[in-house]
Amino acid sequence: MTQKSSAAPAPSPRTVTVTDNSTGKSWELPVHEAVLGPAVVDVRQLYGTTGLFTFDPGFTSTGSCESKITFIDGDEGVLLHRGYRIEDLAEHSDFMEVCYLLLHGELPSAAEKQGFEQTITYHTMLHEQLTYFYRGFRRDAHPMAIMVGVVGALSAFYHDSTDISDPHQRMVASHRLIAKMPTIAAMAYKFSIGQPFVYPRNDLDYAANFLHMTFSVPAEAYKVSPVLARAMDRILILHADHEQNASTSTVRISGSSGANPFACIAAGIASLWGPAHGGANEAVLAMLQEIGTKERIPEFIERAKDKNDPFRLMGFGHRVYKNYDPRASVMRKSCHEVLDELGIKDEPLLALAMELERIALEDDYFVEKKLFPNVDFYSGIILKAMGFPTSMFTVLFAVARTVGWVAQWKEMIEDPSQKISRPRQLYTGHAQRDFVPLSQRD
Ligand code: SDX
Repeated sequence: MTQKSSAAPAPSPRTVTVTDNSTGKSWELPVHEAVLGPAVVDVRQLYGTTGLFTFDPGFTSTGSCESKITFIDGDEGVLLHRGYRIEDLAEHSDFMEVCYLLLHGELPSAAEKQGFEQTITYHTMLHEQLTYFYRGFRRDAHPMAIMVGVVGALSAFYHDSTDISDPHQRMVASHRLIAKMPTIAAMAYKFSIGQPFVYPRNDLDYAANFLHMTFSVPAEAYKVSPVLARAMDRILILHADHEQNASTSTVRISGSSGANPFACIAAGIASLWGPAHGGANEAVLAMLQEIGTKERIPEFIERAKDKNDPFRLMGFGHRVYKNYDPRASVMRKSCHEVLDELGIKDEPLLALAMELERIALEDDYFVEKKLFPNVDFYSGIILKAMGFPTSMFTVLFAVARTVGWVAQWKEMIEDPSQKISRPRQLYTGHAQRDFVPLSQRD
């Protein structure tokens, strides 16, 4: 007789039951546990077994993928990149380390960091032919339109790194995109103001190089302020990645068809441009300038609460954060440092923003709907103080988010369960009907 094991029986796998009350039929759906955050109901077999689709416009309750890159706890206002708090990374790390962390999953050793920085540095130049793309735009073209066009055009220049099945080429394409975005962005700015393009310099770090390419002119020496370079580096860290936001989901869906990484990132840039997403930083500045004075704040708070008024408080609210966006806290602190460094006392827009935040956070509507400042609320004030026009704010967001996009794109390509993203729908249009010849129509 075999000795029965005294060990407790393994717990049965967790499931949820779906019951169709029109037929009384029930089905068990598997639940997958998360390391952090909500578990998920696996509905991949739902349609095959029940003939039913799920329905979740805007994906408010849908996990689109499994990921190990970024975790957000919206209720607690927590943001982790590969397990590290955004506050710690912003305080103690730098953007190149964060890029390495997002791409490789671990903070680099000193040798790994040096090698990564050198790789990025030696990819910052563009093919000279790309400069001609800028001349096709009007001088007053929005720089985000230029970014979409020029980044998409990179696929015409780097055929070797469009082979997404080659892990080495996937990493080369990732390095090229991270490295070239500041150059492309700075050139978009220079083109808009009629100044000559400034080539990257290999003796400057990533953030300083970007400021140099943006603000230096050939006619005189330009010294990058270390305080502004550090502030720029921190802004890049704060915008690097953010789980499955609209633009990252756009990149993942584009990449799921096998499209080349340059085209996918161009799609991400296009999605980020929207005022509900990355375009909000530009919209915040426009809103603050429209409000103008503290006396007019109540008028705009009421407009934001008025369902019949499309106006929303830009830089407030978030699909995930129902607490203070941890990036906004770091950004607000950075705001004061930059303004102090620039000797800007009593910046009226900052005073207005802080008063607007104070009033909104005391208002029942914002409290009940858990609407807090997000990453975009203070970033524009810093960028304006640094000399960037508002049209460049979302461009800077795109420069920073490129590492997040490529890290998520690589994770998607390397996921063995990956397949083309092809959602279904709830169809409520006409049932089939006969064609009516033109002669018989009213
Ligand atoms: C980014 O997803 C990400 O992670 C994005 C991002 C990233 O790093 O990638 O964090 C970057 O995009 C930050 C968000 C920047 N956008 C803005 O600041 C624009 C202003 N914010 C809103 O448009 C809005 O809050 C969203 C788009 C950010 C979130 O919209 P949701 O999740 O779809 O929420 P919702 O529109 O359903 O709003 C819930 C309620 C609504 O009221 P009810 O219909 O329930 O009565 O809150 C209200 C909204 O009307 N509301 C606001 C508001 N935001 C939401 N009311 C006034 N002002 C606002 N800003």
